[in-house]
Amino acid sequence: MTETLSRSLSIRDGRLFIEECDVAELADRFGTPLFVVSENHLVENLRDYEEAFSKHWPEGEFRVMAAIKANPNTAIRRILTREGAGCDTFGRGELELALRGGVDPHDLAVNGSIKSRDVIARAIEVGCHIILDSPIELDYCEEEAARQGKTAQMLLRVKPWLGELDMASDFFPDRTIRDMTQTVKYGIPTSEMLPMVSKAIQLEHVDLVGVHMHAGRHSKRLEFWEALVTAQVDMIDRIRTEAGGNWAPKIVSFGGGMAAIQDRETRVAVTDYESPQIEDYARVITETFRREMTSRGFDTAGMLIEVEPGRGLHNETGIHLAKVHVIKHETENIDRVWAETDTSEVFLSIGGLNVTPPFDYMIANKADAEMSEVADIAGLTCNYECLIEQTPVPHLEPGDVLTFLNTGSYIEPYTCNFNMLPRPGMVLVSGDRAEWIKRPETLDEVFARDVVPQHLEGIGGPPVGSPRSGKEKYD
Ligand SMILES: Cc1ncc(COP(=O)(O)O)c(C=O)c1O
Repeated sequence: MTETLSRSLSIRDGRLFIEECDVAELADRFGTPLFVVSENHLVENLRDYEEAFSKHWPEGEFRVMAAIKANPNTAIRRILTREGAGCDTFGRGELELALRGGVDPHDLAVNGSIKSRDVIARAIEVGCHIILDSPIELDYCEEEAARQGKTAQMLLRVKPWLGELDMASDFFPDRTIRDMTQTVKYGIPTSEMLPMVSKAIQLEHVDLVGVHMHAGRHSKRLEFWEALVTAQVDMIDRIRTEAGGNWAPKIVSFGGGMAAIQDRETRVAVTDYESPQIEDYARVITETFRREMTSRGFDTAGMLIEVEPGRGLHNETGIHLAKVHVIKHETENIDRVWAETDTSEVFLSIGGLNVTPPFDYMIANKADAEMSEVADIAGLTCNYECLIEQTPVPHLEPGDVLTFLNTGSYIEPYTCNFNMLPRPGMVLVSGDRAEWIKRPETLDEVFARDVVPQHLEGIGGPPVGSPRSGKEKYD
């Protein structure tokens, strides 16, 4: 008997499957803890964005600039490249990853606050767009483009003012989105941005091709998106005025921040109301943009619009597997069962004591067993590591495979080496095929950056790296 749970997950005869792979068998074959991603789920999510926005934006072009930070991995990026997606990057590392992932520089943008001269020079060299975050970056663009004999293609990252919107942020429920989008550091302060426009149009080696904003996942409500896009068009209008009245953007980016459909997000405090469909986002964003631009006398024909989904694209494509190793049972003074697993809060981007489960979870090899018992699910490090407190479970035994769902975005990139733990690897599933796309870290790699100064050499233990040689001595 098969029960379908999502685009990639199903329960077949009591066992959890991702695409055509038995999840507990993956845990045995690749070891745990482990991240697993579904290729076909990712591709179908991307199609949703492309189809919805292309349908609602017939007068121009549309491009998904997938936010690479959500799952920064070469193979994942190559899938998105093969499927025609553009790429949003932050800083030098993500830019290089995108290039390794085969992204055509024309479909690539470099975002990021405090961009160094180096990253701007590299962006100009490869020919991708640069999203400016401060006035100094305009100078870098002009100087570096002049040096290379090129023209820098730039978008301004604006901070739309949501004057009328009193809505609370889902990230910080006691603050308004209006405040949060202004007080956050990123984006160019409006009072600094406007003078940049008149300067930019005088410069010889830069081309101001568009306007970018990214507010983030502050709210799923469509009224928020309507207010945001309206405020962005206000900015576009002010930029036109500063530019002398004739300027219009060729590219307009609305950033990321669309909720994942299941929207079980560890980084968002409020998720307990329904997520719009991607088609709803596409309709509201494009209708608002068209209406507001037209009412200000802009011609939108041929304009390229972009979104930069991270969590909306990736969240549900990934699961995280851990094995139960030890069951502890206290019967004196209190009655408590702990299922100790080989994963950790430091691999899951959570912390402390989680009274409500941070993710939906299942036991892969007992996927339809009755949740007849209660246990604490505990993690590996010396931290408190209560991954879930007093939560329903089937009868648990060592070897059972705990599976956290919806861990495809912003989880793996935050893993760290606390307690000198090597970080988990990642496996890609496509149909019945499963392959490494990031191998697990080795213990040697955990030590690889340690350097022992000469006066501490010989104190015991194997030699470790030297400042000159990195890890070669240790190897
Ligand atoms: C510039 C930019 N674009 C897109 C994203 C992706 O946002 P989300 O994952 O909420 O879609 C981010 C996230 O930080 C971002 O900084």
